[in-house]
Amino acid sequence: MIASVLPTYSRAPLTFVKGEGSWLIEADGRRFLDLGAGIAVNALGHAHPALVEVLSTQAQNLWHVSNLYQIPQQQALADQLVDHSFADTVFFTNSGTESCELAVKMARKYWYEKGLPEKVEILTFEGAFHGRSSAGIAAAGSEKMTKGFGPLLGGFKSLPWGDLDAVRAAIGDETCAILVEPVQGEGGIRPMADADLQALRAIANDHDLLLILDEVQCGVGRTGKLFAHEWAGITPDIMMVAKGIGGGFPLGAVLATEEAASGMTAGTHGSTYGGNPLACAVGSKVMEIVADPAFLDSVRAKAGLLRQRLEGLVAENPEVFEEVRGTGLMLGLKCRAVNIDVVNAGYANEVITVPAADNVIRLLPPLTLSDNEIDEAITRLDAAAKSLG
Ligand SMILES: Cc1ncc(COP(=O)(O)O)c(C=O)c1O
Repeated sequence: MIASVLPTYSRAPLTFVKGEGSWLIEADGRRFLDLGAGIAVNALGHAHPALVEVLSTQAQNLWHVSNLYQIPQQQALADQLVDHSFADTVFFTNSGTESCELAVKMARKYWYEKGLPEKVEILTFEGAFHGRSSAGIAAAGSEKMTKGFGPLLGGFKSLPWGDLDAVRAAIGDETCAILVEPVQGEGGIRPMADADLQALRAIANDHDLLLILDEVQCGVGRTGKLFAHEWAGITPDIMMVAKGIGGGFPLGAVLATEEAASGMTAGTHGSTYGGNPLACAVGSKVMEIVADPAFLDSVRAKAGLLRQRLEGLVAENPEVFEEVRGTGLMLGLKCRAVNIDVVNAGYANEVITVPAADNVIRLLPPLTLSDNEIDEAITRLDAAAKSLG
């Protein structure tokens, strides 16, 4: 008999009943150090007092109001995002997948309104993950995600990761945009080199293409800058955000320049829940905390320490780990052992990591992780590795 919850997930036998900062408490009382943060969602850890307060206050006043009316919390968050980024305008969604949907629509509509309706094709990269909607899976293009779900939405071409010659060769009259994660998450924590991101920006400029960045996983402070592309000193035309921006409350956004957004006039897009007062009240507080330069400094300091300690862990356990990769607090351990076995050994040692492609385990801890918790993380990961030896 089919499970009453559609069985699309393979779940660990763990039931967390409470979260406190970097810790998750299991129903049996065990305390797990959470280096997954709900896959880069709980950017400020669990039950951050400032987020609890802002959510509780908003809940007492107004939960939902339609986008038929003014929503001051949405306006405030949009202003913050515009102030702190390349963007001139923001549309709010509930998830990364929905952000992908709008990014694709916006890019195509842009060229349509310019009188070039044939420009619909979006160049993407192997190993990409942009969500599970029809556009998301077509954009990623992998057999694993698309098999059985045809006919796929057309207009995507998947290219080898970081292959700039392949990008140049793929551009034709129908090409409208390049879509890329500055750091691939699901693909195995693969950062695109700054020089390659700069080259993609230059190619987009030279060939009249829009550059769309998917910062759903790597954005909102995760790499030690508010947005990952800032490291490369470039700006996109359109950017997808979600996960960390809501700190655990479902919230996503598409940020865009005025020019890139010019096709999206009244009535061309909408969402019942997108920009909900509860979500935006929380998102505003997350932005207030994360966009503070001192907070981002602290993320970079912690990232440096964690990375250094992970290098030691790899050197100490060469039969289990091969290398550390990634940037900021978006780190991966490429495994020699089977990555799922390492994740499970972590569970046995009460530390949570997340598997990814390419036999990697991901470390995406809360950005508020303390130095003591970094020590604790290494102790637990070391015990997990030794238990496999
Ligand atoms: C880079 C990236 N894009 C899009 C998504 C889809 O986001 P969501 O699961 O919120 O729909 C994810 C989710 O993991 C992601 O990592």
